[in-house]
Amino acid sequence: MNSVVVTQPLPPQLLAPLARYCDLQVLATDESLTPALLADARGLICLLTDRVDRALLDRAPGLDFVSSVSVGVDHVDVAALTERGIPLGHTPGVLVDTTADLAFALLLAAARRLGEADRFVRDGQWTPDERWTPSFFLGKDVSNATLGIVGLGAIGQAVARRAAGFDMQVLGWTPSGREIPGVESLPLDDLLARSDFVSVHVALTGDTRNLVSAERIAAMKPGAILVNTARGGIVDEEALARALDEEHIYAAGLDVYDREPLAADSPLLRHPRVVFAPHIGSATTRTRARMVELAVANAAAALAGARMPHCANPAVYG
Ligand code: GLV
Repeated sequence: MNSVVVTQPLPPQLLAPLARYCDLQVLATDESLTPALLADARGLICLLTDRVDRALLDRAPGLDFVSSVSVGVDHVDVAALTERGIPLGHTPGVLVDTTADLAFALLLAAARRLGEADRFVRDGQWTPDERWTPSFFLGKDVSNATLGIVGLGAIGQAVARRAAGFDMQVLGWTPSGREIPGVESLPLDDLLARSDFVSVHVALTGDTRNLVSAERIAAMKPGAILVNTARGGIVDEEALARALDEEHIYAAGLDVYDREPLAADSPLLRHPRVVFAPHIGSATTRTRARMVELAVANAAAALAGARMPHCANPAVYG
């Protein structure tokens, strides 16, 4: 039993270091992870789209490690792995700037109505009858506005650095109470009440599910813009759609959703002022390669009986 299942094709040159230690079973793009595939596997290299739960683990008696090509691990039952002494690798650090760039791109696009503007030009609506006027496509200023950052981990801090370049006043809240220079820390409800823009950067855990709840959305500053590049389950999507209907929330920039792909009947889709992205926070060529490199390093360490360099459940090492 020395095979490692890789749930999607990854660059072969990046997987090559593992081939020395194990047989790699790389699934095809249209294949999904099933318990049968893990019956004889020693390791699993997975993505955030693979659900690794107790039912799967119960059918994988020889599994020694799981290495996810993601920083977030909410797709994995971490407690179930820890109980079994199985280390879980993940890929923090390398996607920080790339994800912060996307959060800022969504923030700017939502404020300046770039989704609507793009569709307007592309659909041939920019005609002599629908031309430039002083009130044409007015949006919101980003420069000098107040940004509230929910979660001051590495990505939240990288967003704060970008905001400083736009002369924004930056407010922050983080579950750990951490203080960051240049960021005014305050309770979450105060942050929501004062912010023109709110950007979400906490991990999805039992404590943060529905953190931006219907009540909290209702308590946001009227006319605010919400950006979420963290995880869908953190924001109440139905409540966000209602707040957009009522024009309490002006616009949103979303990369993540409670259910992915986003359902075709999601109430969010009817709002022209929501700028959508399909969960592409870390999607640049360089960052994705670095994520695979870290995932491979985690797997190589586990195969060699060593500690993973980036382990999400270090309790397994005692
Ligand atoms: C992306 O969402 C990740 O967790 O890597």
